[in-house]
Amino acid sequence: MIIDADEYRLIAEAMRDIVAGFGGDETKPFLRDWPDHPQRRDVTTTYLPVIAQLAHLKRCAIPDLAVLVDRFLEIAPHCNWRQTYSTGDLGTEFLKNYGWVEIIGERGALASHTIAAGFLMLGAHTAYPLHAHGAEELYFPLAGHAEWARGSEAYSVKPPGTMIHHPSRVPHAMRTHAEPLLAFYIWRDGDLTQKSDLIAN
Ligand SMILES: [Fe+2]
Repeated sequence: MIIDADEYRLIAEAMRDIVAGFGGDETKPFLRDWPDHPQRRDVTTTYLPVIAQLAHLKRCAIPDLAVLVDRFLEIAPHCNWRQTYSTGDLGTEFLKNYGWVEIIGERGALASHTIAAGFLMLGAHTAYPLHAHGAEELYFPLAGHAEWARGSEAYSVKPPGTMIHHPSRVPHAMRTHAEPLLAFYIWRDGDLTQKSDLIAN
């Protein structure tokens, strides 16, 4: 299945609408950098084990975000799934429960040099340890009640419908319990292809 450019654009518009709905100073630079008419780029379909857990997301979604979750679930098996880390970094169990799809950005199906936006999937009972990157980041949990930590703050649940801001180079981490996590992220102002650096505890 080749995913139509319009389908990617509808997903991107739904993301932008969610960001705009939050208002506030933190979202302004991301909305300013959001590309108006991103061009379609060919991307290949790739498979990752975490895709098998997509079916569990439906029960974790909330009505306000169900449209975006459903749109993503439609195309997810045909997307370009990627991982930032290797087994040497975080082990095989983590990699079975982790993956992301860039929708907009330097590598995504919609080309942009000003932002990168996509979906992160974590399986149940998975800890994504502290990491940091130069780009500023917003996260929007879409399904699943994961715990998030930023800097020296303690872990706390950030349910679907909340927004999380990670300034440049601020370490952050997340962990799931019984529910998997689907969230979308946006990066801006920095190398949009750079690897996230793991931070030793
Ligand atoms: Fe991040």
